[in-house]
Amino acid sequence: MWPDTRLCDLLGIDHPIIQAPMAGTTTPAMAAAVSNAGGLGSHGCAALSAEGLAEDMGALAKATNRAVNLNFFCHVPPEMTEARHAAILAAMAPHYQAAGVDPPEEMPQAGLHPFGATHLERLLARPPAVVSFHFGLPEREAVAALKEAGCRILCSATTVAEARWLEERGVDAIIAQGWEAGGHRGVFLDVAHDAQVGLMALVPQVADAVKVPVIAAGGIADGRGIAAAFALGASGVQIGTGFITVPEAGRKPHHHEALAESRDDSSRVTRAGSGRVARAHRTPWIDAMAEVEPAPFPLMYHYTAPLQHAEPEAHQFSLYGQSAALAPTGGAGARLERLVEEARAALG
Ligand SMILES: Cc1cc2nc3c(=O)[nH]c(=O)nc-3n(C[C@H](O)[C@H](O)[C@H](O)COP(=O)(O)O)c2cc1C
Repeated sequence: MWPDTRLCDLLGIDHPIIQAPMAGTTTPAMAAAVSNAGGLGSHGCAALSAEGLAEDMGALAKATNRAVNLNFFCHVPPEMTEARHAAILAAMAPHYQAAGVDPPEEMPQAGLHPFGATHLERLLARPPAVVSFHFGLPEREAVAALKEAGCRILCSATTVAEARWLEERGVDAIIAQGWEAGGHRGVFLDVAHDAQVGLMALVPQVADAVKVPVIAAGGIADGRGIAAAFALGASGVQIGTGFITVPEAGRKPHHHEALAESRDDSSRVTRAGSGRVARAHRTPWIDAMAEVEPAPFPLMYHYTAPLQHAEPEAHQFSLYGQSAALAPTGGAGARLERLVEEARAALG
């Protein structure tokens, strides 16, 4: 039924639908359910410790023998100075005061670690079928070692230039991530000047620019969107927002409440939560934070954590995309099956 089977052939899956990796939201049970239903289940591993990664890899191996995707961040670890720390505390002071919390006086710790030697060692010990990256790639030797071990490599691109850069470095398929997408934008070549390209314009231009299969991501949550992605030249789709509320996901009450009231216009792109551009639920606090120059990713989490502990409702940072109101319901496997049926109808 699929007009283009290149992605299915490459990844060894029945349906060219990838449930997006979502650090903190995806679980081994969720990814396995999607893979067992014939799609590609993904697990966002960016926030896991080395032990957590080994544990989740074990859980995945028990739950499915189909292809799964493990995902990591490749941000450049930021530098922090005393002066910058003081400037952020000063800018954030009214927010701490309003919430009645003490500012975090100590300097931030590294927090989320980019993909490195420990991750590589764990993956090479038990290579997953697919490894994907966000915010660029690790060093060439790591990509080569993963490919040598049989892993297919995917990475997000937000412009044609990023897609070409990834193809030159051996990526097997490119995730073209549009401005509509929920979560952190994968932008990595010119982070300071995010070009904000929408999916409708991005996918055909990336498909024209590279030879590897293109995966459309951003704003797709039903069969119509999947069919449209193929018409634009994609060989598959990656869907995040459409899977956030599955019962197998890591549960975060405020995230689910935000999604329950989501509309086409209820999200915005912000650096308030993490220091890096991400699409999240729009709140008065997030609007007010547009005035604050945040700490670099991922250190901003250190400065927003006291607010979120004190008043989670007012300071929530709930990531989701523009298509949240279109999301299917039910468990992860059932959602995948429904998307396949809808796409079948839409593709005729
Ligand atoms: C809650 C959430 C968390 C996300 N976390 C990650 C992540 O850890 N790694 C990653 O590569 N992409 C992440 N993304 C982005 C997705 O890979 C994908 O680009 C996006 O979900 C597609 O747009 P959609 O949400 O409109 O389907 C996340 C998205 C959401 C909504």
